[in-house]
Order: sequence, then structure tokens, then C-alpha cells
Amino acid sequence: MADPCTLVIFGASGNLAQVKLLPALYKLDHAGLLHPDLKLICNGRKPFNAEAWHAYVEATLNEHLRDAIDADSVARFRARMCYFQGDLKQRETFRELGGLLERDAYPPDVVFYISLPPSVYGPVVDALGETGLLKEDRGWRRVVIEKPFGHDLISARDLHTRLSRHLREDQTYRIDHYLGKETVQNVLVFRFANLMLEPLWNRNYVDHVQITHAETLGVGSRAAFYEHTGALRDMLQSHLIQLMALVAMEPPVSMDADDLRDEKVKVLKSIRPIHPSAVHARAFRAQYAAGHIDGQPVPGYLQEANVDPRSVTETYAALKLYVDNWRWRGVPFYLRTGKRLPKALATVSICFKQPPKQFFRGSHIDHPPPNWLLMGIQPEESLRLELTIKEPGLEMNTRQTSLDALFRCDHHDKTGAYEGLLLDVIEGDRSLFLRYDEVEQAWRLVDPILSVWASERDYIPTYPAGRWEPEEARRIFDREYHKWRNHLEPET
Ligand code: BG6
Repeated sequence: MADPCTLVIFGASGNLAQVKLLPALYKLDHAGLLHPDLKLICNGRKPFNAEAWHAYVEATLNEHLRDAIDADSVARFRARMCYFQGDLKQRETFRELGGLLERDAYPPDVVFYISLPPSVYGPVVDALGETGLLKEDRGWRRVVIEKPFGHDLISARDLHTRLSRHLREDQTYRIDHYLGKETVQNVLVFRFANLMLEPLWNRNYVDHVQITHAETLGVGSRAAFYEHTGALRDMLQSHLIQLMALVAMEPPVSMDADDLRDEKVKVLKSIRPIHPSAVHARAFRAQYAAGHIDGQPVPGYLQEANVDPRSVTETYAALKLYVDNWRWRGVPFYLRTGKRLPKALATVSICFKQPPKQFFRGSHIDHPPPNWLLMGIQPEESLRLELTIKEPGLEMNTRQTSLDALFRCDHHDKTGAYEGLLLDVIEGDRSLFLRYDEVEQAWRLVDPILSVWASERDYIPTYPAGRWEPEEARRIFDREYHKWRNHLEPET
């Protein structure tokens, strides 16, 4: 177990802290993974006295963890924390925080978690730096920054320059919670702990790769953020491009943070840039209209609270990328994400090429389906390899079968992505956090698309909530036979 530290959460009464951070910290505490002397300072603007804050935390845990909490653990968890009210626009708040951190009760190694809107990342780090809170004379100081890091290439560079005035790269933890998901890490184990697939993992055998993150949820109460973000920035620039990097990268020298990230950067650099004139052929956006989810009517995006009725913000985005290196040249990687789709599903689907010769022409197996390797990220965590076999009997009939490894079903208890990542910050392991050059490369890829879409403000295709993307989304496919894999079950 790492030495005790103090964890300061800025924005502790906000949505992320409520839904992810406090439940994750509680679960770590409950599992005995937090040092007994670790302390939590929860900052927010709202006035809470100690009693009201503790009641709020308990209600939050009840809401998000339901039956998984017990009174003793809640009491222990609450005893670790204090609420510190303060407006982060005031320097005085940081000076007071500095005073608090100097007290003996608070371990001198400190994590600052900025769980606030992206517009304040810069100002908060400036304030921390200028009030001396990032000095490491008593203990280490680390800062966790949520995504999105910037809203395009230029703003990401500006933010990086601004933060670098106060923080070294090794103090900066740019979080991408997708990398904390167990099956995402399993992509690495699967690829590099098993030799069997390595010879097939290239342009000679792989026809194309699909990466999907589909959600049934709509934008909910996050329209203020989402209106300026959209699906491309929210999911593709970060989570899905990261996942693609893990699928496509070369074996790293070691699993150390920098070796791993060097390889990710190398593969991101090999991705062919998208010229503005090619945006329509390589990317597609759409927005959900009113429809039905699980049989219930739901409003369209334009009818959601705080959405501009003329908004062309995309709630669905798909992208075709090529990795122009020795291993992958010519293999399309299709990435897509969307809200209000028919089901929640995140997968990596690898479609292999057809055998070079069809031996069974003239029989019932004129065109056997290709082999697929499917990695279920969520809700099901699984691995499936689809094969063609002969049906028993005298005739030459075939059918599809699959080799399945189900790691975990939806109803099994899961370790949330934030639990592992919070422990990593406390322990100083940066391998699952983004280095600045990775972020920059990802912006470089999506920037031309963002510019073209920003200039096209009159029209966006729509799809009814509860349905998959419209037919015109097919335009990004390279081949007639390419189509989205919408499920893990075998194609019929
Ligand atoms: C977040 C996005 O980063 O990831 C959300 O901002 C999205 O819009 C979420 O819903 C999806 O991640 P998960 O782990 O909830 O499936």
C-alpha cells in the first residue's frame, strides 16, 4: 500500500464527483485499499456544514452504490473527509487551503483532482502554482485533469503551455477513464501475453477493424457541456482513438508508463491525416431525433433542456482512419459512437480477410462469412472468435460457430474505471494516463473534421432515438460488404 496522502477534490459537489469519484473512493476504502491516514478535502462553492456534507455524501453513496454499502464503512469513509467551502476565483481560497494542508492531520503528499469544467483547468492550476501549493518541499504534488484537454489543437497547445509553467509532465495526470476499464487493459494482455494471434495481427490477414461505443442514454442534464463538445470531441478524440492505439500499436519495450506511451504516440503519428476535402468521405455526423428507448418515448436532442433549437451538435460520429505503417497500411479502422442508439454496447470487432481461394464453390458455402474476433468492452466483458465449420451430415453444409470467453456479465460486480485510476494516481503510476503528445496527436487527427463541421451549420442528418445510424453513414465504408457489427452474437 502506498504512503498516505491528502486528496483534494475541486468540484466535489458536482456531477462527476457524485457519480464516479466519491463512489469509487468509498469502494476503495471499503476494500481496504486506502491507507488509514489518507485524508480527503472536498471543495465546492455551496455552503455545507460538516453535518450537511456528511448527509450529502451518504445520500450520494446510497444513490450510486445502493445495497453495496454498509454503515461501518460509510462512517469510516466520512471520518476521512472534510468539506472546504471556497470560491476558486479568489486567491484567498487557495491561501486558506494552503493553511489547511499544513496542519499535521493532513499528509504532505497531495493530489489535487480538478473535477470542474474545462474552462477553469488553466485558472485553477495558475492559482495553485502562484500560491505555492505545487511546491514539493514537504511532499509530492500531483494534479489530475479531466478530459477534454482543450477543445481543438490550438487550445490544447495553449493549455499545455499554461500548465507547464507550474507543473512538470510527471506531476500531470490527464485522465481518460476509458483506459481504466478492465477489458480495455485486457486488449494489451490479450495481444502481448498470447503469441498465437500476433502473426495474424496485420494487413495480410485483417480486412478491417471496427471500434464502437454505443449508448442508449441521451444528453441528460449535460447539455451546457455537450452543446460545445459533441460526440467527436467527447468520445472519439479521447476514448476511442486511445482504444484504437492499443489495438494497433507495436509491442512496447516494457509496460512502463513511458515505453507504453511512446508506442501509442508512434502509432498515432502513423495515422494518415484527414485533409479537409476528404472529411465527407472519412467522417459522418448525425443527431438523434425523438424516438423510443426500451419502448418508452424520448425527446429528440433539439428538445432537450438547454439545447439551442437550431443546434447542429452531433450526438453520433463515425470516422475512418488508416494507419500508414508497415503493419496496417490499407486496413480501414472504423470508429463510431452515439447517444440514444438501440443498445449500450462497446466493442472492438476485427474482421479477417476471406481465404485466398474458395474451395467450396458450387456447394452451399459459396460465400462463407469471414472470421471475426470480437472483444466486448461493456456491458459484457468477453472475447469471441467466430469460425465456419461443417454441419454434421453427408451434405457439404456449413454454419458459424464461435469460441467464447466470457470474463464477466453485466450483472457481475465490476471494478469501476475510476477505482483503478485513483489508486494509480495515489501510487504514482502514470501508464494509464495520457502524456501530452498523445493528446496533441489525437487533436491533430480530428481538427480538420471539427473545422469543416463547424462551418456547416445548416444541416445535420438525424436518426430516431432507439435506432442505429442512418443509411447514409455507409458512405465512409471502403467496400460494399463492410457493415457495422451491432452485436456480439454471430451474424445470421
Ligand atoms: C464520458 C463522456 O467521457 O464517457 C460521456 O463524457 C459518456 O458522454 C461516457 O457517456 C461513457 O463512458 P462510460 O464509462 O460511462 O461508458
